[in-house]
Order: sequence, then structure tokens, then C-alpha cells
Amino acid sequence: METKILLNESEMPRQWYNLAADLPTPMLPPLGPDGKPVSPDMLAPVFPMNLIEQEVSTDRWIDIPDEILGLLRRWRPSPLKRAVNLEKYLDTPAKIYFKDESVSPPGSHKPNTSVAQAWYNKQFGIERLTTETGAGQWGSALAFACKLVGLECKVFMVRISFDQKPFRKHMMSVWGANCVASPSTETNAGRTVLEKMPDTPGSLGIAISEAIEQAVTDKTGKTRYALGSVLNHVMLHQTIIGLEAKKQLEIAGVDKPDVVIGCAGGGSNFAGLSFPFVNDKIAGADIEVIAVEPESCPTLTRGPFAYDFGDTACTTPLMAMYTLGHAFVPPPIHAGGLRYHGMAPLVCQAVVEGLINPRAYHQLKCYESAITFASTEGMICAPETSHAVACAIDEALKAKEEGKEKVILFNYSGHGLMDLTGYDAYMSGKLSDYSLPQDKIEEFTAPLQDLPPAEQHKTGKW
Ligand SMILES: Cc1ncc(COP(=O)(O)O)c(C=O)c1O
Repeated sequence: METKILLNESEMPRQWYNLAADLPTPMLPPLGPDGKPVSPDMLAPVFPMNLIEQEVSTDRWIDIPDEILGLLRRWRPSPLKRAVNLEKYLDTPAKIYFKDESVSPPGSHKPNTSVAQAWYNKQFGIERLTTETGAGQWGSALAFACKLVGLECKVFMVRISFDQKPFRKHMMSVWGANCVASPSTETNAGRTVLEKMPDTPGSLGIAISEAIEQAVTDKTGKTRYALGSVLNHVMLHQTIIGLEAKKQLEIAGVDKPDVVIGCAGGGSNFAGLSFPFVNDKIAGADIEVIAVEPESCPTLTRGPFAYDFGDTACTTPLMAMYTLGHAFVPPPIHAGGLRYHGMAPLVCQAVVEGLINPRAYHQLKCYESAITFASTEGMICAPETSHAVACAIDEALKAKEEGKEKVILFNYSGHGLMDLTGYDAYMSGKLSDYSLPQDKIEEFTAPLQDLPPAEQHKTGKW
């Protein structure tokens, strides 16, 4: 039995899949400050028009330019692996497959979109990109991509990760990017937060405000902003993961997985693996699709579905999504990439429709599962990824209880070799579980009542 299913480079998908074409009920449109839907040109100071076209597209398939395929070929196609040693350890009849996105040079799924975004910006004549980063995975992925295509790169890194994860900063420097802690004194958004909360651990929402401000205030017009998750075009670029996985499962003799799992921060690795399978589910396939988030940042499981800003300074359009409120400052758990207050609107609409089931896990369970995975398969996963691992283990144990030979597929979104301080804290008993109190959720989401309401539209089929 082959435990690694590999594709040739010539078998790489040549188109991305756009779930917006197939959602049974369309997403609510993003709104501008006047409460009216934003037009593509309103986004032009922030993103290049070629990416805005993808953002608003409802075409089912979008061609991947040859040059981007050339960039992706540095590490793609990524392997699909079967976790036979974990299966044996759990004594489960389930077959556990995982898509190994940790093989990219920065070590996660993030470069699938960073190389595409850098390339489209370069084509549009942009010279410099700004961005935010949580755990540092996205910052390092964008730094890597900018180096490959020849763009300058500026990264605002959430303060808590900047302090806890120095090695990702060094990676960004190796790839020539400039990384500063957020909130910083370089922007109005950063200075305003620092005045009120000088000791804040920072948040993705604040870092996004800083990065957007620097992009739109550049008088040369040659700077744009790049976002590592949440937006439709990011989900689109990540679908190469699920499209490859489908071909690989076919080679393994599996017609469809029974359960598809990804951890969800802004939603991109989850969407990347799952959307091609959500498409099958819409067409009638029986697949359970699970998005896993932390109990300390339970956006999909406990946040309201509402119109909210993507950033703390309220500079982005309003997006209809599950949210903990744009002012949410998350507790400093180690899975830095899962601390965003909102979630990709495409993922949220699929949750509203019942196509995706969200679940929240505590961090101790996730670390315990990560150690089980490392002890059986040998691989040390990113703290974010450990949420998917924990869910895959739960599902494999459930299959054992039910005596079913289920096929479980999860996204191994990144390695944890730069996140060993988190493992050290876990193993020396310094971590504890934290469930976000209900009164905090109510406090952070109360201001949303002053924004336009987001109605939930669904067919009721799932
Ligand atoms: C390894 C890894 N997995 C998952 C995530 C979560 O992000 P997203 O939901 O966009 O995939 C991150 C974010 O930094 C990450 O670094």
C-alpha cells in the first residue's frame, strides 16, 4: 500500500475553483460607509484591479497563469499522505489522509496565494506590498513571494507573536522584507491604539488597519495591500489544495472522503481543501465538512452572523460574516493564526447554508493531539494545524465506535518547527484552557447593532 500519493508536475490543476459560482444562496455583498454595496473601483486604492476582478467573479473556473504555475512548482504538487501509523495507534477502521501543505519553503499553505497575489500586483505595475501577520506564517509567505517576483514587502506583525516567535521575523529578513511589531508608531491606527492600550498584545484587526493605512497613504500610488486570508480571491487561490487532493484520492482508489477537516482562522486553508468537496456536496455527495476553531476565539461557533469591519480601525468594507466584533482582542493562545475576529464570507455563507459544520476545541486537547501525531507519524505540526489533527483523531475514534471504515481527509496546513516555544509551554504545564466568556462576546459584538443587519438566507437543504 502506498502511503504517499504524489502527482507529477504536469498533473497540477490549471484552474482554480470558485465556490461563489455554486453557492445555493449567494453571499450578501460587501457594503461601503454609506451602507450601499461597494463597487470594484472603491477597492482600487487597496488592491490591484486584476485581483479585484477575481474578488468579485462568479465564474466557476479561473485559469492559473503559466507564470504562477511556474512559481507554485517550487513545491507543488504537495503530497497526500495516509497516516497509517496514527490509524494503527488509534486502532481505528478509518483511513486518515492528510494533504501536506507544510512542504512549501515558508512551511505552510500561505504561499499558494502569496505567489499569486505578488505576481498579479507586479503585473499591475505595483512595486511594494504591505501586510499584517499573526503567527508570522503569512508574513513569511508574502516575504518569500515578493522576493521571487521582485517586490518590496512591509509586514506588521501582531506584537504577541513578534515577541514569541522571533524566528519567523528572521525568515522575513532572509527574504528581504521589513517586519515591525503592531501596534507600531508608524501609523495613525497604531498610535491611536497604543495611546489607549500601551501594553496590548496586538491583534490581526489592528495590524490590518496599519498595513492598509500605509498602502493607501503612499503618494506614489505604487503600494498595495495583500491579505493572507478571508477574501474571496484568497480562498480561490487555495483551492489548488483540494483539487490536487481529489486527484490523489482517486489514485488511492477512494471515490469520496466521508469527512473533510481544516482548521479555520480566516478560513483559507480550510476553504482551500474543502471547497472542491463542498461543490460535490452541493451536487448530492454525502460528505461531512468540518471547520475547527479555538474555544478562545470561537467565531463560527459562537459569534453572530452580522455585517462587520475586517479591521479594528473600521477602514475595510463591511462584510457579512460570523464575527466576534472588530474590536475583539483575543487572549494570547499559541495558535496565533486562529485569532482573527471574523471569517471568510464564502465560508460563512456555506456555514449559514449548513454545508459546513463548525466546531471549537481547547488548546490543551490540540497540543495533546499534536504530540500523538508527532509520536506516530513523526511530524511536528503548527499549533493551528493541531486543531485539524485533534478533530481527525476524534472522527477516527468515532468511526471506531461506529465500526465504520470512514475516509477522513484533513489539511496539514503547516509545520510547527518555528513554534516550538508553544510546545515547550505545553509540555512544561504552563498552558491552560480558556473559553471566551459569553459576556465578553456580548461586549465586543454590541456595537454591531449600529451597523446594517445581515439576514441569513439559505435553501434549508442541508
Ligand atoms: C499553519 C497555519 N494554519 C492555519 C492558519 C489559519 O489561517 P487560515 O484560516 O487563513 O488558513 C494559519 C494562519 O496563520 C497558519 O499559519
